[in-house]
Amino acid sequence: MISPDRIKERVSQGLPGQWYVVAKSVQVRGEKPMAVQALGKKLVLWRNGEGSVCCLEDYCPHRGAPLSRGEILEGHIACRYHGIKLDGTGKIIRVPAMPACPLEGRRAGIAYTVQEANDGVFVYFPSIEKPEPPPLELPGEFGSPQWSSFLCSALWSCNYQYAADNTADPMHGCYLHADSFTLAYGAKQDLLKLEKAEGGFIVTRVGQVGENFDWVHVVTDTSAPYIRLDIPYPPAGGPGGPFRILGFMTPVDERRTRVFFWRNRKVSGIAGEAWRFLFRAFYEKQHWDVLEQDRAMLENIPFDARHRELLYQHDVGVVRLRRTLQERAKRQLEFEEASQQQKVG
Ligand code: FES
Ligand SMILES: [Fe+2]
Repeated sequence: MISPDRIKERVSQGLPGQWYVVAKSVQVRGEKPMAVQALGKKLVLWRNGEGSVCCLEDYCPHRGAPLSRGEILEGHIACRYHGIKLDGTGKIIRVPAMPACPLEGRRAGIAYTVQEANDGVFVYFPSIEKPEPPPLELPGEFGSPQWSSFLCSALWSCNYQYAADNTADPMHGCYLHADSFTLAYGAKQDLLKLEKAEGGFIVTRVGQVGENFDWVHVVTDTSAPYIRLDIPYPPAGGPGGPFRILGFMTPVDERRTRVFFWRNRKVSGIAGEAWRFLFRAFYEKQHWDVLEQDRAMLENIPFDARHRELLYQHDVGVVRLRRTLQERAKRQLEFEEASQQQKVG
């Protein structure tokens, strides 16, 4: 029997057995390795000789120095402390300080599976239940020639559940973002309805269509969960219809989250170029301002607020999301307990 506290603790730490975005592709380049943190683990990223991103635990198997302080040599990573060189699989290629060192050839570093998609670097975090990476499932907009997107990322000092709850809650739009472009539109009173949708559920405002942040599609039943929402733009907002956000939340540790928001419009060709120009010149700042409002609010909600809440009808999405995460955590913990018992038996 798994206690509710253990389930909540697992959810709070972030669920393994999924792919998470850990960086923007452009951040992993050149001669310098990049340190990232996700699900409480310190990792190092770099590009090998073929240009593919490699990911190891940021820990040198010799004596624990962070590999991210090292250098990239011929596509491998060399520890700064005593020069041990590892490849992307975690194998020790060379111990330069000692000829024919028996450590050479040992696969001593912990390697993670990486995949790049749509300018993002995704890493698979294995669980005991799912040690091997399932295929990385991505939103249909990714890689589609009809869509043009920009990826923005920010570090928020709050548990990822608050960032996720925030996206599953369309009603905050017309209050928290009341003074923002288009998000000010729409009624301040409404009811919400929740319906099953592909890979998860949709929360929709009942009394408002096409005006503001009217619905959110929360995709949980996938190997890389995300949310999708549209912010309608007036004709003056340029080509491409609504501004679509695809949001991924990566727990850095229990108190920090790295959010990755792809900002998309359905435009290609000349219209796509026009949109990209408009976005850089005008909308990027607007979008950051809105995200800042979310960040400032969420960072100031106490860590334990979820134990002292009074929810009402508008929190249907939040409640459903929490239940989904808890069910997943429970299943993982049951699996882990059963495999532990098997080992003991
Ligand atoms: S700790 Fe890395 S080479 Fe010694
Ligand atoms: Fe918001």
